[in-house]
Amino acid sequence: MSVGFIGLGHYVPPKIVTNKDLEKIVDTSDEWIRTRTGIEERRIAEDDMNTSDMAYLSAVDALKDANLTAEDIDLILVATVTPDMPFPSVSCMIQERLGAIRAAAMDVSAACSGFMYAISTAKQFVESKTYKNILVVGVEKLSKITDWSDRSTCVLFGDGAGAAVIGEVSEGRGILSYELGSDGTGGKHLYQNSDDYLVMNGREVFKFAVRKMPEASVNVIEKAGLKKEDVDYLIPHQANIRIMEAARQRLDISEDRMNQSIKKYGNTSAASIAIALSESVKDGHIKDDDIVVLVGFGGGLTWGSIALRWGK
Ligand code: UT7
Repeated sequence: MSVGFIGLGHYVPPKIVTNKDLEKIVDTSDEWIRTRTGIEERRIAEDDMNTSDMAYLSAVDALKDANLTAEDIDLILVATVTPDMPFPSVSCMIQERLGAIRAAAMDVSAACSGFMYAISTAKQFVESKTYKNILVVGVEKLSKITDWSDRSTCVLFGDGAGAAVIGEVSEGRGILSYELGSDGTGGKHLYQNSDDYLVMNGREVFKFAVRKMPEASVNVIEKAGLKKEDVDYLIPHQANIRIMEAARQRLDISEDRMNQSIKKYGNTSAASIAIALSESVKDGHIKDDDIVVLVGFGGGLTWGSIALRWGK
């Protein structure tokens, strides 16, 4: 059985915060942020919009795209490290709001790799014929755990949500291979402290990412029986353009075939690959039968990659 994407959606809050805006609150510059990270602006959710609100809006978009109703959904998986509260889960909150009365629901915690983990988990349930349609959401409201006085982190992150419906697709299409991994010894480099703020040793995470992103990309291409020349489009986790470049160069892919939504959204953690995929399909960068590689890394430390042939 081939398992893949049968619908996609995303939601980003309307409020844009530019690098120039951040110059007013911390000692930074538009030039530093652009050259060191590739970020030009990010979206920040208002106080009255929580993680579950963004998750819900992206899910509605994905269900519409899949031509399904909420009652068709068997399982909801939400990847996030910024839930509204520790419990109930964001997945249960949107289960109620969508009216997905037949669905089981749970959150997945793998930081920026969360969407890769949740998609790979969804694939198992469809393949085993346990469930037919699975709603997967990657969502973060990182602004609520951002220390707005710490220039080394506050310039990097943004809020948003991306959603996908996973189900059976035609033979040869869908998810061809995946790889998931973790290294808890690096957990100390990226975590939430007792004040609830995100703390990061940027250099250590950077070193890990420039090694892992290219490696995990090549591994899934090989596992799928493909060569790097077969890859049409690359969606790396949008954390830093220099890290993304390391993956792109290893795969010998031209710049126009790598998603660079980091420019407008910054790093949205578990939402980044989900938003990028939804946008890339909707704007025509990804077409039926294209070979696409998704690759992410993040806190944990964790990583995950997926090779797929696009199309239902
Ligand atoms: O989603 C997964 C999580 N995160 C990541 O993937 C992040 C991975 N790491 C990175 O992307 C990079 O390490 C950063 C963008 C966080 C930092 O870039 P860097 O090139 O590694 O800079 P650095 O930490 O080595 O700092 C260089 C200088 C330092 O000044 P000194 O000590 O050389 O005088 C920093 O204090 O840049 C300074 N700096 C800043 N300057 C202006 C740090 N943040 C800023 C800032 N504006 N916002």
